[in-house]
Amino acid sequence: MSQNRAGLAGVIAGQTAISTVGDEHAGLTYRGYAIDDLATGASFEEVAYLLIHGRLPTRNELSVFQARLIESRYLPPQLVNVLETIPADASPMDVLRTGVSMLGTLEPEPQDAAGLGGVAERLVGVLPSMLLYWFNYHVNGRRIDVETSERTVAGQFLRLMHGAAPESRAEQALATSLILYAEHEFNASTFTARVITATQADFYAAITGAIGALSGPLHGGANEQAMALIDRFNDPQQAEAGVLDMLATKQKIMGFGHRVYRESDPRSTIIQGWARLLAGDDAGRLAVYNVSTRIAEVMWREKKLFPNADFYHASTYRFLGIPTALFTPIFVMSRLTGWAAHIIEQRADNRLIRPSAEYVGPDRQTFVPIDRRGQ
Ligand code: COA
Repeated sequence: MSQNRAGLAGVIAGQTAISTVGDEHAGLTYRGYAIDDLATGASFEEVAYLLIHGRLPTRNELSVFQARLIESRYLPPQLVNVLETIPADASPMDVLRTGVSMLGTLEPEPQDAAGLGGVAERLVGVLPSMLLYWFNYHVNGRRIDVETSERTVAGQFLRLMHGAAPESRAEQALATSLILYAEHEFNASTFTARVITATQADFYAAITGAIGALSGPLHGGANEQAMALIDRFNDPQQAEAGVLDMLATKQKIMGFGHRVYRESDPRSTIIQGWARLLAGDDAGRLAVYNVSTRIAEVMWREKKLFPNADFYHASTYRFLGIPTALFTPIFVMSRLTGWAAHIIEQRADNRLIRPSAEYVGPDRQTFVPIDRRGQ
């Protein structure tokens, strides 16, 4: 009998001490800490330290860590050349994938295992620089200085994006988003990173592959697709009619459903709160927010499907003035920390990941040489 589980759904494919997801008792936790506590009480940098180094930092450790992230923002000139050469109409996800790959040739991974944390920190520091240098060069025609004195990754991103010091509420909203997106057990991109790591390929190979996996609309790309959906409707009535039509024709509504969660995604409530807060009483923003909530109501009523982490990220990022094409790259900037944790964990107790397939092809065939196969 077939042992096949389509999409590996429900298959336990390994052990991890990094996070629990959809656990009936624990819910979503990073190294034992509840996501709600981290999202309300920690900075993204603390969470990044927790994931990369395995425990929460002390105040001193955090300040040294933050200083290292700040020092990691510089772009080597060869990388700047590559960023300027990538076409203006390239996907920003491909920019990050290419940038990480190029950096891997310039700053190869050190041979000692302890060096991995350093590579992870370098990437956390430099990813916003890569993305926004390329964006400003091609979209705004400006060569920007990426070495700012902003203390946080969120602050750095917003400053490079808008060319001005970020408002503290905007910085806090983006930092919360980075915390929510940081880690999620054996999701597709993390599993990709682990499969690549298990072959003993290097850190950059694993991250490059993970970025590729995250770019797909069924995974990280869903936040951009959710925005495109919301943008199709001017008001809640239109949204209701449009979504009902899509469901009637069996189309997928991006930003809904989840492989693991069955009733709700704990990240969604938190980011929805930020979307509502940022909408304030601005009529344009409220229109976007009200379209979003109506889509969620229809999806629950019709399909018992709930918004996943991506859905309200769309309106939150819109209200932060971030162009839609940069939504999924922000996810990379955050999930990088979870990928790093998994790469380090996989290395520490490695075995090649190589499952088997159930063969469904033709029976044994008689081989006919090409000159006897006719035209
Ligand atoms: N819109 C409409 N229907 C959906 C849906 C969605 N977003 N998500 C799931 N469904 C339906 C499927 O059509 C299917 O119905 P059926 O049994 O009548 O065919 C059923 O729910 C099960 O869905 P399936 O795609 O098999 O579940 P999965 O576990 O393989 O996939 C996702 C999980 C996340 C890939 C899926 O829910 C999805 O594609 N969501 C949209 C993309 C998205 O938001 N991704 C981000 C995930 S965090």
